[in-house]
Amino acid sequence: MSKIREEHALIPESDLEGVSVDTLAVRAGQIRTAQLEHSDAIFPTSSFVYGSAAQAAARFGGEEPGNIYSRFTNPTVQAFEARIAAMEGGERAVGTASGMAAILSTCMALLQSGDHVVCSRGVFGTTNVLFQKYLARFGVETTFVSLTDMDAWRAAVRPETRMLFLETPSNPLCEVADLQALADLAHANDALFVVDNCFCTPILQRPFEYGADIVIHSATKYLDGQGRCIGGVVIGSNALMEEVYGFMRSAGPSLSPFNAWVFLKGLETLPIRMRAHCASALELAQWLEQHPAVERVFYAGLTSHPQHALAGKQQKGYGGVLSFRVKGERAEAWQVIDATQIISITGNLGDTRTTVTHPATTTHGRLSPEDKAEAGITENLIRVSVGLEDIDDLKADLARGLDALTR
Ligand SMILES: Cc1ncc(COP(=O)(O)O)c(C=O)c1O
Repeated sequence: MSKIREEHALIPESDLEGVSVDTLAVRAGQIRTAQLEHSDAIFPTSSFVYGSAAQAAARFGGEEPGNIYSRFTNPTVQAFEARIAAMEGGERAVGTASGMAAILSTCMALLQSGDHVVCSRGVFGTTNVLFQKYLARFGVETTFVSLTDMDAWRAAVRPETRMLFLETPSNPLCEVADLQALADLAHANDALFVVDNCFCTPILQRPFEYGADIVIHSATKYLDGQGRCIGGVVIGSNALMEEVYGFMRSAGPSLSPFNAWVFLKGLETLPIRMRAHCASALELAQWLEQHPAVERVFYAGLTSHPQHALAGKQQKGYGGVLSFRVKGERAEAWQVIDATQIISITGNLGDTRTTVTHPATTTHGRLSPEDKAEAGITENLIRVSVGLEDIDDLKADLARGLDALTR
């Protein structure tokens, strides 16, 4: 390996061949400038200059590679895209302004009027609204099915089905889909298999290894990991990402360089954070499961979870999010949430700080009562994204409300 690197050069990809995802999280994709900075530089500029009118023409015409305008070419965004693409094992990534912009860009770029989507019912509430309300207006129809019911997926596929879309584990019930079986179903029907890998990140699950065509992230969650920025990313083959990039360039749901820089820094600690989130979430899930005020705990790391074995096979850990039903209704769930003093009451997840949410009235509040019922979003359900605080302090914070319910 040569120690002499050219200024302005990307760290050569060949230097990182065969290294683990933990090393890619720290090293992949860096663009080093003439200043030879050690950490990633940030390029907060809307446009770039040219040496001559002829060079400007060549850049705009695509005959010469190089930056033009930060809606679609920014070095900090490109560094983030290269790093996350390497970590997921995809050819190319396109950064977007949010996780929702990543999902929208994928659909706008790769679907057209008359196409049909099969989507799991347990997806993030706003994803559901995007498909059901907005994409439907442009002639893209979506059928929602249970994430874990393979017969329902098979029955929903039609000749015009072009995409199978899911999250696994699902939010907030932590159901786990069989990625390989669904990739096979998609490909047998000439459809794209799209996985929102937000809950696992490439540290715990790499959907391309199971046949996914596209992986999507809300970078807002674990990739940042400290609750600072909104952003998203789409990853896939060069051919598919050229289409997504084309939509992003034309429509403009672009990732800001500042946010991309925060995500680059976040990725460097992602492997150790994910392992710590998983360890604490498992301990909290086991503790909740034996609490008399708890009706049921949803966490794939528990042996009581129906897809525990499948999760163990396709994931390297069970993740940092769990949910549980208290004995009672909305009032009891709110009582437990309101009794917390350390844990933050907020809709975000994947943060160093533990967060608690009442999905039925927040993240999934816009779903119809029927859709909520079908998705298992009951009034007594509480979601916890387990952070990096001491686990005994988190138990004590939840015990305050739970113990009160048993009195
Ligand atoms: C699984 C999942 N996908 C997508 C999104 C949307 O991401 P964003 O809020 O960055 O638009 C969220 C947000 O909570 C999510 O939980």
